Amino acid sequence: MKTVLVTGATGTLGTPTARTVKDAGYRVRALSRKSGDGLTTGDLLTGEGIPEAIEDVDTVVHLATGSRDVEQAKAAIDACRDAGIAHFVLISIVGIESIPLGYYKGKVEIEKYLEKSRVPFSIVRATQFHQFVDGIFSAQRFLPLIVAPKFSFQPISTDDVATRLVELVGSAPAGRVADIGGPESLTATELAQKWKNSNGSRRAIWTANMPGKIVKGYAAGHNLVPGRPYGTSTFDEFLRDKYGK
Ligand SMILES: NC(=O)c1ccc[n+]([C@@H]2O[C@H](COP(=O)([O-])OP(=O)(O)OC[C@H]3O[C@@H](n4cnc5c(N)ncnc54)[C@H](OP(=O)(O)O)[C@@H]3O)[C@@H](O)[C@H]2O)c1
Repeated sequence: MKTVLVTGATGTLGTPTARTVKDAGYRVRALSRKSGDGLTTGDLLTGEGIPEAIEDVDTVVHLATGSRDVEQAKAAIDACRDAGIAHFVLISIVGIESIPLGYYKGKVEIEKYLEKSRVPFSIVRATQFHQFVDGIFSAQRFLPLIVAPKFSFQPISTDDVATRLVELVGSAPAGRVADIGGPESLTATELAQKWKNSNGSRRAIWTANMPGKIVKGYAAGHNLVPGRPYGTSTFDEFLRDKYGK
């Protein structure tokens, strides 16, 4: 039986991924800086616990992130190279070279570092998670209006992303594989309307045409995946699960 180390296993994507890896019949090690039931303790920034966490592991699924995303990822890749890990599976984000966000520039750097590392790897880029889109509107709960940028998202469920990650765990290292997105591309205004209905909010939605290169990148659709979608679970389903309507 393969042993799979999931970094970021307590996070939004890591939680369903660790569960899906386990359900698929693999032995799972769920890395966290915390200690607790079912967790393997380690910190990618200090290095504490990492050699032990990685010992006898076949595949690493790297989902940990934070304000020092690049440093964390490089540390994980270096540890895998030193330990001779057979497969490093990396989650990344659709459109990272076309939308000039600092966090996205870091993702490009991480992908390049992995490609040059000699660690056998698979990289899959996903669109924004349902939780991310929900977060945009939830963060505005004290504003008199709901502001929606004038571009679209194609939100995907973290369960669907987890399913794809586990498919990659079960396959040979494949390099960069096809991007994945959710079942629907919707304008932020349409998503705001759904969020508003679920939350029973009476606030008006304001579609804001914002300036700047970042917005331009989103408005050009660089965060979307054309063609047949991978994800099947909709934003409506996510909202129903979270808010009950
Ligand atoms: N959000 C989106 O819409 C989206 C879309 C596509 C791709 N992604 C990518 O998906 C990945 C996962 O995102 P997420 O939203 O699930 O992240 P998240 O919920 O913020 O979780 C971050 C995880 O990183 C772990 N972590 C942080 N610092 C660490 C350290 N020094 N050492 C070890 N672990 C550390 C945390 O574990 P502890 O706190 O337990 O230590 C936590 O489990 C990221 O790479 C993100 O860029 C996100």
